[in-house]
Amino acid sequence: MKVYLPRDAAARALGADEIALAIQAEAARRGRTVDLVRNGSRGMVWLEPLAEVVTATGRMAFGPMTLADVPDLFGDLALHPKALGPTHDLPWMRNQTRLTFARVGVIDPLSMDDYRAHGGLAGLRRALTLDSAGIVAEVIASGLRGRGGAGFPTGIKWKTVADAAADRKYIVCNADEGDSGTFADRMLMEGDPLTLIEGMVIAGIAVGATKGFVYLRSEYPDAIDVMTQAVDLARAAGLLGPSVLGSAHAFDMEIRTGAGAYVCGEETSLLNSLEGKRGVVRAKPPLPALQGFMGKPTVVNNVISLATIPAIFEMGAAFYRGFGLGRSLGTIPLQIAGNVARGGLYECAFGLTLTQIIDDIAGGTATGRPVKAVQVGGPLGAYFPRAMFDLPFGYEEYASADGLIGHAGIVVFDDTADMLAQARFALEFCAIESCGKCTPCRIGAVRGVETVDRIARGDAAAIPLLTDLCNTMKSGSLCALGGFTPYPVMSALTHFPDEFRPMKTAAE
Ligand SMILES: Cc1cc2nc3c(=O)[nH]c(=O)nc-3n(C[C@H](O)[C@H](O)[C@H](O)COP(=O)(O)O)c2cc1C
Ligand code: SF4
Repeated sequence: MKVYLPRDAAARALGADEIALAIQAEAARRGRTVDLVRNGSRGMVWLEPLAEVVTATGRMAFGPMTLADVPDLFGDLALHPKALGPTHDLPWMRNQTRLTFARVGVIDPLSMDDYRAHGGLAGLRRALTLDSAGIVAEVIASGLRGRGGAGFPTGIKWKTVADAAADRKYIVCNADEGDSGTFADRMLMEGDPLTLIEGMVIAGIAVGATKGFVYLRSEYPDAIDVMTQAVDLARAAGLLGPSVLGSAHAFDMEIRTGAGAYVCGEETSLLNSLEGKRGVVRAKPPLPALQGFMGKPTVVNNVISLATIPAIFEMGAAFYRGFGLGRSLGTIPLQIAGNVARGGLYECAFGLTLTQIIDDIAGGTATGRPVKAVQVGGPLGAYFPRAMFDLPFGYEEYASADGLIGHAGIVVFDDTADMLAQARFALEFCAIESCGKCTPCRIGAVRGVETVDRIARGDAAAIPLLTDLCNTMKSGSLCALGGFTPYPVMSALTHFPDEFRPMKTAAE
C-alpha cells in the first residue's frame, strides 16, 4: 500500500504528522506494510491533511483527514467518509495549468529518481546544448517577468549580468517571501526543491556565475530543512559541483537564513543582509545586476521566477508564452487567502478576473457574508471593491487601476472589514518595517498613522493632508516600501470613502 501525505508546513500545522504516525501504527496493527511518502501539498489547504492512496486507477484523495479517519484507509476506499475521488479530477486540480508547480504534490521532494522520472533535469539538459546567449535569448523569448513583485523581464536582467565583465558573478534567490497572504515560494521549496536548484544552475550557466545563494526567511524552518537536504542531494547527483551533469560548467550554492525583516526582501537590502550588514536599502544605480553581492554582477530573482526556468527550457519559450494576456505571459501561482471558503495555491494563465478567482475558485467567503474588498499584492497592494472585480489578472491591467499584482497574494475580506483600520494598518506596518534610510517613508509613515487617527476622531480636514502625504511618499521614497504604502491607503480612501467619515475610531 502506498500513501502520500504532505510534509508541507501548512499540512503539518493542520496535523499531518499525527496522521502519518497513525497510518503507520494502523498498518503495523493490521500486519500491513505501508510505503508512506511525505510529498508537497497539492495546494488545497482547506482539505489538509490530504492523504492520497495509490490504487489501480490512480491516486485517490481523502481529506481533511482526522485521526478517526485513518483506519478506514485500510478498508473499502469507496466507502471512506472523506473520499474525494481521483486527485487529478478534483475541480481545483482539473482547471489549473500547473507548469511551475507541475511536480509539487506529485513527487517525493527529496528523491532524485522521482524528480527525474517526472521530467526533472530535462530543462537543464536542453540548456546545456545552448551557449550563454542562447539561454538568455530563450528566457527573453518566454516573456517571463519577475514573480517577486516588480515584474521586471527576467531575460533582460540575465542579459545585463551576462554582458557585464567581472571575475565573479552570483545568483541570489530571493526566498524572503514577506508579503502577507503569500506562500508560493514556501510551497515550491517544500514540495519540489530540486526545480529551484535546477533553475538556479541554468541561471548560473547563462550569466557565467558559479555560486548561488538562497536567502530564505527564518520563519520557514520546514523549507530551510528541505532545501538544505536538496542541496546535498543535488551535489551527490552531480547537479551541483565542479562539473554540472558532467559539463564544463561549475555551479554550487548555499542556503542562507534571512534576518526577519520585511525590507530584507527588497533586493539591495537583501544583499546587504547577505553580506552580513544591516538590512538597509541601497540607492540605485548601481543596479545589483552590475554591482550586487560583494560588488559583483548579481542576478537577484524570486523563487518562482527561477523555478519556472526548467519548465520553460523543457517545453520551449513559445509554449510558455502561449499562456497569459498582453505583456503578462505564462502562468502565475495565485495564492488565495483570508476570508475564503477554499483557500490555497492555484496556478493558472494570467487573465482571470477576481470574480472568477473569489466566487468560482475560492467559493466566496468562509463566513458566508458578502465580499467587501480584496487586497492583491501583499501589504503594499491596493484594496479593490467588488465593482472592480472584472479586472483581468495582469501587470499592466492592475497598474492602470492603481494596484499591483505583486507576488500574486489575494487576501479576501467580508463586509465586516473596517477599511479605515486597514489604511491605518498599512501605515503602521510601514512605520515598523521602514529601514529608515529616507525621510518620506521613515517620518511619513508615522505621520500617516497620526493623520488616520485624526480622521477617525472626526477631523475631516485631515483627509486632504493624508492624500498629500501619500503623494509625497509615492514620489519621494527610495524604495517600494515607502513608495507603495500609499496604494492600500489611497485605495481604501477612494473606494470606501464612507468609512473615513467623521466620528469613527480606528479601534472600532
Ligand atoms: C519592501 C520590499 C519587499 C520585497 N520583498 C520581496 C520578497 O519577499 N521576495 C521577492 O522575491 N521579492 C521581494 N521584493 C522585490 C525585490 O526587490 C526584487 O524585485 C525581486 O527579488 C527580483 O526578483 P524577480 O525579478 O524574480 O521578481 C521586495 C521589494 C520591496 C520593495
Ligand atoms: S522607502 Fe522606506 S524602506 Fe525604502 S529606503 Fe526609504 S526608508 Fe528604507
